[in-house]
Amino acid sequence: MTLDQEIDGVRQQLQQDLSQINPTQATLETLRIRYLGKKGIVPALFRYLPKLAVEERPDAGQMLNQLKNETEKALDDLHQYLIHQQENRATFFDYTLPGKRPPVGHLHPVTRTMNAIIDIFRRMGFSIAFGPEIETDYNNFQALNFPDNHPARDMQDTFFIDRDILLRTHTSPIQVRTMLQNKPPIRILAPGRVYRNEAINPRSYCMFHQIEGLYVDEQVTFAELKTTLDIFAKQFFGAGVKTRLRPSFFPFTEPSAEMDISCFICGGSGCRVCKQTGWLEILGCGMVDPNVFRSVGIDPEKYTGYAFGMGPDRISLLKYGIDDIRLLFEGDIRFLNQF
Ligand code: PHE
Repeated sequence: MTLDQEIDGVRQQLQQDLSQINPTQATLETLRIRYLGKKGIVPALFRYLPKLAVEERPDAGQMLNQLKNETEKALDDLHQYLIHQQENRATFFDYTLPGKRPPVGHLHPVTRTMNAIIDIFRRMGFSIAFGPEIETDYNNFQALNFPDNHPARDMQDTFFIDRDILLRTHTSPIQVRTMLQNKPPIRILAPGRVYRNEAINPRSYCMFHQIEGLYVDEQVTFAELKTTLDIFAKQFFGAGVKTRLRPSFFPFTEPSAEMDISCFICGGSGCRVCKQTGWLEILGCGMVDPNVFRSVGIDPEKYTGYAFGMGPDRISLLKYGIDDIRLLFEGDIRFLNQF
């Protein structure tokens, strides 16, 4: 074999060695010894030189030097590559990996209850109305036929901001606002927060929610009120639920009633939740008092109407079996996560 052929053979072998290994610093060192070490392949070829004819030696020497340089460079490149790879691994980011999902919340149980209630009345033709949480004494009390010394105006119940301005104690002032701004027929549902200066305990809170309903037109009857509420109760609590109206009193409705539903937990046979009565009170209602119509400029001889108001917080407590209203408003993620 000529020196040319030997050199080509070494070149090929080196290429092969470089391409076959899964290179690490350790295999790189092995290659360096195999090719460039004292007893390595390349120095071995240099030992041919003295055996060649004198005139052949310069060319052969040049070729051997070139091989040596090439080999050194190839191993150096591999060394650089390994260092690079190590650095890359530290900062490497695989853009094809699935992303981390940011945690997403969900609707509050009371919001869910309110949305479900609103949906049912919307299908029955009610539109939605809102009002401010800071109200006038006129809209919250006077226009709603509260006598001047009615206990509901007492400082015990109402957060007054000044003499005539207060935090609304119910959503009924939205009735007043709506009737002042619109002519009958009026059919609205008004959800919102209300405030009362009550001791905070498992059953009551200083802030809670109400959903108010109002329907005003010619010849609106108590029978319509009863039917509408019965349809609502069956859609919301289940077709098997029974309803009953008990006489009650509100200054702004006459006659007034409270509606109970048969307890959907025990089915009416009596349990802890319905306090063995078989019934759960869920709302107040009645026919709009003629005095309320007069204070908003609607003719009580021509129009009649009904109104109702319910507490979605209490309904949520019943529906989800929660026994402390404070849990609804404290924003504790451990509690809210369960819904
Ligand atoms: N506003 C009453 C309350 O807060 C509820 C109600 C509304 C009663 C409408 C009758 C009609 O208790």
